[in-house]
Amino acid sequence: MCQNKVLNLITYGCQMNKYDSETIAGILQDYSLSNELTEADVVLVNTCAVRQHAEDKLYSLLGRLSKIKDIKPDFKIGVCGCVAQQQGNNLIRKFPSVDLVIGPDNLNRLPDLLDKVYKGGKIVLTEHQPLPDDTLPSKRMNKIKAYVPITIGCNNRCTYCVVPYTRGSLRSKPAYQIIDEIKKLVESGYQEITLLGQNVNDYGIDFRETKLDFRELLIMISNINGLKRIRFITSHPKNFNYELINTIPQLKNICAYIHLPIQSGSDKILKLMNRGYTLKFYQQLVEYLREKVPEVSLTTDLIVGFPGEEEEDFEKTLKVVEEIKFDSAFTFKYSPRPNTESASFPNQIPEEIKQKRLEKLIELTSRITKQKNQQLVGKTTEILIEGKNPQDPSFLMGKTKTDKVVFIPSNGKSLMGEFVNVKLIRCGTFSFKGELINS
Ligand code: 5AD
Ligand code: SF4
Repeated sequence: MCQNKVLNLITYGCQMNKYDSETIAGILQDYSLSNELTEADVVLVNTCAVRQHAEDKLYSLLGRLSKIKDIKPDFKIGVCGCVAQQQGNNLIRKFPSVDLVIGPDNLNRLPDLLDKVYKGGKIVLTEHQPLPDDTLPSKRMNKIKAYVPITIGCNNRCTYCVVPYTRGSLRSKPAYQIIDEIKKLVESGYQEITLLGQNVNDYGIDFRETKLDFRELLIMISNINGLKRIRFITSHPKNFNYELINTIPQLKNICAYIHLPIQSGSDKILKLMNRGYTLKFYQQLVEYLREKVPEVSLTTDLIVGFPGEEEEDFEKTLKVVEEIKFDSAFTFKYSPRPNTESASFPNQIPEEIKQKRLEKLIELTSRITKQKNQQLVGKTTEILIEGKNPQDPSFLMGKTKTDKVVFIPSNGKSLMGEFVNVKLIRCGTFSFKGELINS
């Protein structure tokens, strides 16, 4: 049915969504991919619902796509991902030009649903499945590093977060499936694997018979022959236990890079967020982590303007950011999300205050990131070359084990997928310039 059809696949949101898009491209491998909206027979938008801003991007895109449909009636529009899951039928009600709404658990149904759409059907499918079909093909966009989900969904109930409503409750993939997928990737030349989960530390809590936790899974993965680098995102402070920290330095292919969202520096706000830890607990965890893994690069997420956040709470966030000195931080303005508890909390913070706090926080986190980068200038380190610098192809782009981006002159070499030693000679906030060291 799809013969000669052209697909334009647009992805918003997190790595999990990017992984899903690779699955979509794999399932629909008979389609030719195009980045041009006007060339496409069908557009699939893989969406994110985590903040209103991400959802708004979808709505403005759907407005543009509807206009294409006005002049090209056979053009089909599909919405996948978290907004599809959350809005379901509402999406077609608001945007009658949308033909297909499909949640992340049902991607295996895409080919036959699209066939129905070509016959004029309008389809909405948002049922959660026990575990999404893991035998689906994937068209990986990167040949050096790959993402592998280990859990789907989330059992935490952070009061601001939409994920449990879009991705459902936590389901861990069986270890043998994960190991199998990674072994195949390594055999086909992948050097780096990033394990994905909303909270990787919760891996296995849903197993009834087998007792296997994240630390044990990590050890099994680490033993896969030929696997050079392993990362995992995202860790949750409340169950990132000390035993796991003790294990990291023993496993040589685990990267010294931890993304550990703190969200706020105020105990009052952490409680309202239902994060399950106090500031003191977080600080002690970081202290222990830095003692055991001294070279660790630590990144975080921060939300400003959570309901009830007073100036003194925000000051506490600034203080802890100054004290801990994260390697980098993702900073967000609180965005009330449908169904979440905090959307109906009193004392919502006005937009102008959120904006001011965000700007102040970004100024601080960027200054610290740059300072931390400057401390590394002059040092020698190993990077894995991932490709060319898209802005300047005469430079190659690689990453350190600690996830720092380094550009080096290519001097006509490709070096794709190779580990090379470089000296860091200059830095900005987001990257380094380095030079190759002949070894
Ligand atoms: N508003 C603002 N930021 C949010 N995040 C999650 N939900 C919200 C929300 N409602 C942020 C958190 C999380 C990151 C992925 O997105 O910081 O760690
Ligand atoms: Fe966005 Fe969260 Fe869904 Fe990822 S899981 S796409 S971050 S809402």
